[in-house]
Amino acid sequence: MPRNIGVLASGRGTNLQAIIDGASSGGFDGRVAVVVSDRSKAPALDRARQAGIPAVFVSKKEAGSQEAFERSIAGVLDAHGVDVVCLAGFMRILGPWFVRWYWGRMLNIHPALLPSFPGLEAQRQALEYGVKVSGCTVHFADEGVDAGPIIIQRPVLVRSDDTFETLSERILVEEHKAYVEALRLLCDGRLEIQGKRVIVTGSS
Ligand code: GRF
Repeated sequence: MPRNIGVLASGRGTNLQAIIDGASSGGFDGRVAVVVSDRSKAPALDRARQAGIPAVFVSKKEAGSQEAFERSIAGVLDAHGVDVVCLAGFMRILGPWFVRWYWGRMLNIHPALLPSFPGLEAQRQALEYGVKVSGCTVHFADEGVDAGPIIIQRPVLVRSDDTFETLSERILVEEHKAYVEALRLLCDGRLEIQGKRVIVTGSS
């Protein structure tokens, strides 16, 4: 059975686009059932509409509390039969009950090789630290910020003339591949969480 994927995104939505394209080209056995954003004008919502996917804005302000906000999002996801959640540039912290509810079926992407450089502007953090290799990470979301068992990492070499923009651009290319690959493994039932480790079972 194809999995029903719900994508949460706050911004431009290039990872969302990679997921939409991955679903339509058979990159994994799933479909994007709904896209939810906390920003009414997020380009990600336009990308969803363009692809004929329900696009829903959930207002934190209107919800009032953090829990009410999360329950509204979960309500939208439920209404669309979502069983897998992808965080794709979603700029809000999700609290314990939401994370527990979707434990083992909610993924996040981060533009650095975690556990290095969690949080905002990871590419800038990596450049300023002077690392020679950075990259991206897809992981199961837990209650920490950019924490949780790691599914896939893709490295990107840092060049001496890199700027935040040039490094971000090369990492982004790898992000798009990593998200589709992680979804392929998840949708095929090949991921097993053992403590902090994710074991990839079977063969491709
Ligand atoms: C990506 O770099 C992702 O790793 C981070 O936020 C950015 C979202 O970009 N969490 P986009 O909206 O998918 O283009």
